[in-house]
Amino acid sequence: MKKSLETKLARAGTEPDSGTRALATPIHLASTYARDADGEYSGGFVYSRLENPTRAKLEDVLADLEGGSSCMAFASGMAAANALLQALEPGDRVLFPHDIYFGVRKLAGKQFAKWGLIVETIDMTAAHDVAKALSQPAALVWIETPSNPQLNIVDIRAIAEKAHAAGAQVVVDNTWSTPLITRPIELGADIVLHSVTKYLGGHSDVLGGALVFANDGPLTEYCLDIQREAGAVLDPFSAWLALRGIRTLGVRMDRHSKSAQAVALFLEAHPGVRTVHYPGLKSDPGHSIAARQMSAFGGMLSCEINGTAEQAVTIARSLTLFANATSLGGTESLIEHRASAEGPDSPTPDTLLRISVGLENAEDLISDLNHALIDVLN
Ligand SMILES: Cc1ncc(COP(=O)(O)O)c(C=O)c1O
Repeated sequence: MKKSLETKLARAGTEPDSGTRALATPIHLASTYARDADGEYSGGFVYSRLENPTRAKLEDVLADLEGGSSCMAFASGMAAANALLQALEPGDRVLFPHDIYFGVRKLAGKQFAKWGLIVETIDMTAAHDVAKALSQPAALVWIETPSNPQLNIVDIRAIAEKAHAAGAQVVVDNTWSTPLITRPIELGADIVLHSVTKYLGGHSDVLGGALVFANDGPLTEYCLDIQREAGAVLDPFSAWLALRGIRTLGVRMDRHSKSAQAVALFLEAHPGVRTVHYPGLKSDPGHSIAARQMSAFGGMLSCEINGTAEQAVTIARSLTLFANATSLGGTESLIEHRASAEGPDSPTPDTLLRISVGLENAEDLISDLNHALIDVLN
C-alpha cells in the first residue's frame, strides 16, 4: 500500500522490534557486537562507529521520507556538510548561494580553501548569474531554500537542470523546509542535507545531521567511508530522539507554518517593520516559486526593523515569549539578531531579526512582538 508522508511520519521507527516486539525502536548503546563461533557476525553489526541499529533505523526512515536510496546520519548538520565537501577532490569547483548558512560558508572558506576546493558564491535567485557560473565546469551546486537568514527562495528544478547540463551534482539543504514541505529529490536534486538538530528533532534537545542520496554512486561511497572512518556519527540516543521527533513532524510543521504566516502578516502591517522575509507573503519576491515548490511556507521568517541595529538587539532582548537564542525548529519560539551572531564578515543586514515561530498560540506571540516593537521604537 502506498503511504502518504503524514502516515510515514507518524509511524517512523514504530515497527515491532525483531527481538522483543517493542513498538519503539530500542536504543542500542553497545559499542561492539560478538562474533559467532565461526567468526561471522550473523546479527549484521560489528562495531557502532560503522553501523548501529538505532542509527540505521533513523537512516532508513530519512531515506524513505526524502525518497532517496540511502542515508548517512552524522553528529551534526555541519558534520554532514563537512563529509560532503571532503568527498570532493582538491581543485573541484563548488557554487554556493550568496546567503548560505554562515557555518557552511565559514567551514568552506577556512578549512576547504586549504584543501584546494574552489568555492564561488553567486546569487542563485538570478537565472543569469546561475547560467554564467555554470558555463564553466563545476562539481557541486549547493542550494539552500528558504535561505538562512534572508529566506531567499531558489527554483530547485531550474537550477538542477542547468547544473546537470554542466556536469555538476546538486545538494539541497532541506533543513528549514523538511521533507514534508519541499521534495528536493523529486525536483531533481542528487543529495539532500539536513541539520537534524532543527525541525526533525523538533525539541531543541538533539544535535544531528544527515545526507540522503537520490541514487548511490561514487560520491555516496566516499561519504559513507568518511562517516565510518572519520567517525562523526550520530550517537544512538540522539538517533532515538530524532526518530521520536519525526513522528510529530507533520502536526508540528502544520502549526509552525500557520503561526508563522500570521506573525508575518502582522509584522508586514507594522510601522516599526521595514521588510518581512517570508515566502508565504504575496509581497515576497520568492512567493510564486515557493507556492509551486513548497506545500506550506514553514515556521521561519525574518524582518528588518525601521530603526537601528542597537534597537533590533534591544527588541530581541525585550521579548518574553521568544527566547533570545540561536538555532530554530523547536516547540519554543526563538529570536536572534543574526548580524551579531554571524560576526564582522556577515552579509546580513544589521537591522534583521530572525524568528523561529514555535508552537505557542499565535496571538500571544503577536502581542509580545507588538509590545516590544512599540516599547523600543517609540
Ligand atoms: C540551514 C542550516 N544548515 C545547516 C546547519 C548546521 O546544523 P548543525 O547546527 O546541526 O551543525 C544549520 C544550523 O543552524 C542551518 O540552519
